[in-house]
Amino acid sequence: MNKRTDPHHIDRAAADALALHAAANKAERAAIGVGLPHESATLHVSGEATYVDDIGELRGTLHAALGLSRHAHARIVSINLDLVLAAPGVIAVFTADDIPGENNCGPVLHDDPILAKDEVLYLGQPMFVVIAETHDLARRAAALAKSEEVIRYEPREAILTPRDAKAKQQFVLPPLHLKRGDPDTKIASAVHRLQGEFEVGGQEQFYLEGQIAYAIPKELDGLLVYSSTQHPSEMQHLVAHMLDWPTHNVICECRRMGGGFGGKESQSGIFACIASLAAHLLHRPVKLRADRDDDFMITGKRHDAVYTYEAGFDNDGRLQGARVEIALRAGYSADLSGAVATRAVCHFDNAYYLQDVDITALCCRTNTQSNTAFRGFGGPQGALVMEIMMDEIAHRLKRDPVDIRRVNYYGITERNVTPYGQTVEDNIIAPLTDELLASSAYVQRRNAIAAFNKASPVLKRGIAFTPVKFGISFNVPFLNQAGALVHVYKDGSALVNHGGTEMGQGLNTKVAQVVANALGVPLSRVRVTATDTSKIANTSATAASTGSDLNGKAAEAAALTIRGRLAELAAKQLGGRAEDVSFHDGVVESNGGQMPFDQLVGAAYLARVQLWSDGFYATPKVNWDAKTLTGQPFYYFAYGAAISEVVVDTLTGEWRLLRADILHDAGQSINPALDIGQVEGGFVQGMGWLTTEELWWNRDGRLMTHAPSTYKIPSVSDIPAAMNIALYDNQNVEPTVFLSKAVGEPPLLLGFSVLLAIRAAVASVAPDSTDAPVLRAPATPESILNALDAQAAKAFAPMAADVAQPVSVN
Ligand code: MTE
Ligand code: MOS
Repeated sequence: MNKRTDPHHIDRAAADALALHAAANKAERAAIGVGLPHESATLHVSGEATYVDDIGELRGTLHAALGLSRHAHARIVSINLDLVLAAPGVIAVFTADDIPGENNCGPVLHDDPILAKDEVLYLGQPMFVVIAETHDLARRAAALAKSEEVIRYEPREAILTPRDAKAKQQFVLPPLHLKRGDPDTKIASAVHRLQGEFEVGGQEQFYLEGQIAYAIPKELDGLLVYSSTQHPSEMQHLVAHMLDWPTHNVICECRRMGGGFGGKESQSGIFACIASLAAHLLHRPVKLRADRDDDFMITGKRHDAVYTYEAGFDNDGRLQGARVEIALRAGYSADLSGAVATRAVCHFDNAYYLQDVDITALCCRTNTQSNTAFRGFGGPQGALVMEIMMDEIAHRLKRDPVDIRRVNYYGITERNVTPYGQTVEDNIIAPLTDELLASSAYVQRRNAIAAFNKASPVLKRGIAFTPVKFGISFNVPFLNQAGALVHVYKDGSALVNHGGTEMGQGLNTKVAQVVANALGVPLSRVRVTATDTSKIANTSATAASTGSDLNGKAAEAAALTIRGRLAELAAKQLGGRAEDVSFHDGVVESNGGQMPFDQLVGAAYLARVQLWSDGFYATPKVNWDAKTLTGQPFYYFAYGAAISEVVVDTLTGEWRLLRADILHDAGQSINPALDIGQVEGGFVQGMGWLTTEELWWNRDGRLMTHAPSTYKIPSVSDIPAAMNIALYDNQNVEPTVFLSKAVGEPPLLLGFSVLLAIRAAVASVAPDSTDAPVLRAPATPESILNALDAQAAKAFAPMAADVAQPVSVN
């Protein structure tokens, strides 16, 4: 044997190389639990990261723009596209009649036309697509949709609010109803009762990269579709279905998104379909990039909600019975509303035990955009009303709201079964609460704020604590599966492909860490590629925060299969047993001997050992009965809590977040830097939802807040100077990847504390009132001023506080 192929022979040079390897690797050891930067961090900030619009355009690429409906609900009397076709640069115009297969991009029900036919169901609905030489020319021509000459409508009555839809019994799906025990009797016989109504607005996902698809025709009826999507498999399926093709004709690829936030789970479909339709019909590459305003007008958002609630409680504030109806604005079609409403039902309890409870969720059909997934997926809408109730109970009993929450927390061995029948087995909310209260000096600060408010007539401060318990898994059990493909090349470098998508959350970084760890190589030896439906088939959306749980496990399984094969060879060559071979720092050790990983891989190739593998993962335990709304929909729960302090100017309704303290449970974090980033982003996004982000439709059903000029997401200056975020020291009780927990969505619910802190500040203008203020969310300055007016009226004339919601009934 010569030196090159004899792995036992480690000469000086090789030994030096080994030492170098080990040193270089120390810093970036595949290191699970180390705060490594996002895999694309430098690319993001230097502008080198490739998004769909950055992909080099092929010669002959055409550009598409959409002609949108001008009415919220109307019959289409006629479409005459001559004017549009005659516009400069226009190559073609297509309508629903040009679709060869099914005109549908609905992910669950087939009630979502790609292009409107016969009638329009919301203002902004795409009716035709213009294909032109340039993006600008396409948009100019598409804007002719405004002309009476082009489209004639016969307007019909439109339903524009969930209240109106409820009154007319217009729902996209049958109501969901979950009842346990005997809430009616329990509420009626309770010492105290409250009832009320509350409203929360919707929220635009406002991903920085808008919706976009670039479709390229391939030979033999094939299409390659680059799509900014959380769900490449669904895009592939929708496009194939629209063209009446088998699925294998279409490949969908997504390297990364500039944010998705749920808005690119199903809603990327219409763009992928329309670009593909045009590319197929014209045999030319077609790109469809929605302008920001069009994106707002076309796509669905977070469901806004109207709640009616009622509860009975004892002198300690412990709930005896609770009832809620959550009327969600579904929009014109079902989209994902069924799953969103289900998650709302399953999160009404938040962190609290509800023995006797009655929960109804309505998916109201309105002539507005079809609402969809948004970080938390209905969970925030479910839990928010419970937190409102907790604060109201505290008001009524004149107690610290934290005490009310504590007495209602789930227990450990009793009072631990959710309304939907799942036993909470990993409850850490009480110790987590204690730790946060201590680290944030909550009690002292609450007292200081009370003193401040007494002495300050105009500026009022408020502080609030809110906990979160969030269920992890898709609540449709079959979606909880994932696949991965790991290649190790002859030089020892590894390439990973998995079914998840990267939208900024750091999924690819975590998956790379997992694979690097499994192979015992430095992170730089692992590269993650674009998500591609031709590599992993039948993937689920990257959603429900399950990305790293599912794809991390699948990729780990693939890497471990390869490692197992390598270990056998190492044991043969170094002696010892395969199961005792260790892989770390780019070195393989067995029986006291060692060799570089790369060298072992080279030897394995020559020995004809398979150096690539697939991996698959299916989440255990989960089950769900959609009829009875019971089962174990979640593999485990993630927990967290936040304390926010605000100051409100009672003359203008302006406010600032002064300080936020957050303790969040990410299990045993794979990457604390990324996880803290998710907590930060989730919290601020939740705050935006409940304070500055307002969706406002006019009387015609036109969304008036459709650009950053009128729709205000939080900016850097809204982040408080004091923002203390820590991860709770914990391990998942379930064997998830490295005992970590999903972190993408749960922290959004921590933003509740900002709304409730504002409400506490408003309440302080009538310190003796036992009625909590009525503060509509989003708590814009307007909403805050309204609440202050009502509250001040209580202070000066308690009797005049006529039926201000919530009403006290005892
Ligand atoms: N973080 C960034 N930066 N961008 C995003 O679009 N989406 C959120 C969350 N965090 C999002 C994000 C949503 S809605 C979900 S469901 C999860 O990330 C999805 O990714 P994960 O399952 O890998 O956590
Ligand atoms: Mo997230 S709303 O599940 O995409």
